[in-house]
Amino acid sequence: MIRRSAHLRSLIRYFDVGSSVSKLGAYKFSSRAASSLLQAIEPSTDSSANDDEKTAIDWNNLGFGLMPTDYMYTMKCFKDENFTQGQLSRYGNIELSPSAGVLNYGQGLFEGTKAYRRGNGHLFLFRPDQNAIRMQNGAERMCMPSPSIEQFVDAVKQTALANRRWIPPPGKGSLYIRPLLMGSGPILGLAPASEYTFLIYASPVGIYFKEGLAPLNLYIEDEFHRASCGGAGGIKSITNYAPVLKALRRAKERGFSDVLYLDSVNKTNIEEVSSCNIFLVKDNVLSTPATNGTILKGVTRISIIDIARDLGYQVEERSIPVEELLSADEVFCTGTAVGVVPVGRITYEGRRVEYRTGSRLVSQELYSTLVGIQTGLIEDKRGWVVEID
Ligand SMILES: Cc1ncc(COP(=O)(O)O)c(C=O)c1O
Repeated sequence: MIRRSAHLRSLIRYFDVGSSVSKLGAYKFSSRAASSLLQAIEPSTDSSANDDEKTAIDWNNLGFGLMPTDYMYTMKCFKDENFTQGQLSRYGNIELSPSAGVLNYGQGLFEGTKAYRRGNGHLFLFRPDQNAIRMQNGAERMCMPSPSIEQFVDAVKQTALANRRWIPPPGKGSLYIRPLLMGSGPILGLAPASEYTFLIYASPVGIYFKEGLAPLNLYIEDEFHRASCGGAGGIKSITNYAPVLKALRRAKERGFSDVLYLDSVNKTNIEEVSSCNIFLVKDNVLSTPATNGTILKGVTRISIIDIARDLGYQVEERSIPVEELLSADEVFCTGTAVGVVPVGRITYEGRRVEYRTGSRLVSQELYSTLVGIQTGLIEDKRGWVVEID
């Protein structure tokens, strides 16, 4: 038992999150077939025998910077048609019309999921179907066709397997997989593009925040907003991210880790952080802002809610006034890139509040359980983990 939790703790230091596909068998065949085909046509991708041999990487110092890998996946379709067949190719620049919808009108979405390596060497994904569903919802909002769930998951698998030598050893990080969907066809007047590109690339990553594993120091922003009612805050549109850069840069220059945004109508309720969701714990009850269209429905967020309820915690999804956050016992953030990370301090209108950190945190218990499910130490009752080799 002690050894098990020590192992878990060491994994938690580096691991992040993911989630589940129930029809695993169906996906397994197509990925394997694609992988064998790739190996047949291009022997250099046959990395299964010596995954690490050809990759001279300092796995101990991975951050969250781009480290280009070998292959990317591309699939295209025309407006009003469905995606049909995609393919892997060498990672590299893509050609785009200067009048592409994505460049001119921001008609684009992205996703983020991860491939991990287990202690036994096997590779897995966490709930890639949830990313596929989120991309479909976003595509509907942005007037784009989207890959089916099966196409999306299979493409993620193919990308992970083709770049398998870049998947870090267990406990050292993961392969961050970035699916994109964009209007790539030329358009001049404001309208949906005539052609769409679904593209996936990958990069090995470690810890997201430059502070490493230290609790976050958040700044509550009341001048800039991330999303508004009826806008696109609830989907992973590329247009949600550049507008927060100014607030983020300003906060970082002042020594904060990230920014927590408020609702744009009354500036009284908390929403989310630039790239992660937020939870508070008060008297052992967990609360997180409800997702009503201005907050991203994080895959990690919903997984942590399920885990917390399984563990007997009461979890509330509702509006949370900033004053309530300031009186919480514990606060933490969740996201595929960031994992489950405690918040140590929050500053609001010049007032600084400190939260419980250290050991015996609720967030630690939840993250241990999540990582336990991912690594196979805890039973994966919901079929969240998708083995890919
Ligand atoms: C704005 C925002 N909120 C929350 C999240 C967390 O979502 P997930 O857990 O699916 O990574 C992300 C990351 O994708 C994000 O960009």
